[in-house]
Amino acid sequence: MSISDFYKQLEEVTKAGKPPRVIESGQGAYLTIGGVKKLNFCSSHYLGLAEHPRVKKAAQDAIEKYGLGTGYRTLAGTHILHLELEKAIAKFKGTEAAVVFSSAYMANAAAIQTIISKEDIVISDELNHASIIDAVRLSGVKNKFIYKHGDAKDLEIQLKEAEKIVRQPKTDGNKPLILIVTDGVFSMDGDLAPLPEIVKLAEKYQALTMVDDAHGEGVMGRGGRGVVDHFGLVGKIDIEIGSLSKAFSVIGGFIAGKKTLIDYYNLKARQRLFSIALTIPDTAASLEAINILLESDELVKKLWDNTNYLRGEFKKLGFDTGHPESPITPVMLPSEDIAKEFSAKLFEEDVFATPIVFPMVPKGKARIRVIPSASHSRKDLDFGIKAFAKVAKELKVL
Ligand SMILES: Cc1ncc(COP(=O)(O)O)c(C=O)c1O
Repeated sequence: MSISDFYKQLEEVTKAGKPPRVIESGQGAYLTIGGVKKLNFCSSHYLGLAEHPRVKKAAQDAIEKYGLGTGYRTLAGTHILHLELEKAIAKFKGTEAAVVFSSAYMANAAAIQTIISKEDIVISDELNHASIIDAVRLSGVKNKFIYKHGDAKDLEIQLKEAEKIVRQPKTDGNKPLILIVTDGVFSMDGDLAPLPEIVKLAEKYQALTMVDDAHGEGVMGRGGRGVVDHFGLVGKIDIEIGSLSKAFSVIGGFIAGKKTLIDYYNLKARQRLFSIALTIPDTAASLEAINILLESDELVKKLWDNTNYLRGEFKKLGFDTGHPESPITPVMLPSEDIAKEFSAKLFEEDVFATPIVFPMVPKGKARIRVIPSASHSRKDLDFGIKAFAKVAKELKVL
């Protein structure tokens, strides 16, 4: 192909894409788009921390004191704030240690690539997040098994298959390692991984467990400690991944687990060796966000009050909201076209909630994904609910 044909081909694809809405405000209960205030009904800032005065001040103070950039963690970039943040994360999660990365995408890549070689075995839920799928690919592992979404019975079938491979030693003479990996909260439906069953099976088949709790931290469990805490399994999961960009509203990701494992990641993870560390304001802001949660569960309670109210009202109106166990509330719609039209009409009513269609969800499962947050007042929620009712009537979808 000629270079000009290559660029033409790219143009064909990109012109079909829709540019995202541009936000002109902070990420609070409302967003300003095109100069107009819109109810923010779809962000993952579950606790409303993006505009929290303490979080903002922590970043400002840290910039005053230390400036902006850091460096490479293994060279001259490990800052005292990084260590404080890692300590706070470990305390929050109830693990021995933690290590931070520039995103959860990076943390997933590091978590798998660093310990899994091509002769090991990875068993993954079919609906796992793209960053897990990419991390598995990056590891180069040949033995990949996918189990049906949330289905512990199917997981055991896959483990039995994996057992056959384990009998064959690797070229280095060691037995292949089995890693079971799952999202904690699945971000499209808000359902949870069956962690108690997964832990039992992992013990039976001597497998390592990894849970990506990007949508569980700050949301599930005691005081938002996450989905592992929700199931009373603290200390029973080998590798916990978290994101600092969702409930904590900053940027960054982490791996939490046993000290030996974290020491190994510190020494070996390529994402830590060859990519820059978190900046000073990001680190200070994340640390403050975690401290807020360590001090009080007020915001988590507010998030759940809002979630229960919103869902109750949606149910009363007759919407199908699936079976979520987290605040993620899918409003199921009959088709992709209706989901898109529904979202556009909501926008005219000053409510911002994006449609979720194939390939983000299977065909026939189009929806608007609503995520309430602790920053919404009852009045804000009522405003959104009223708009949903109006649009549903117009489109005759109830
Ligand atoms: C389950 C899950 N893991 C990881 C990520 C990536 O998080 P980050 O934005 O910190 O890279 C996301 C973000 O959508 C997610 O939903």
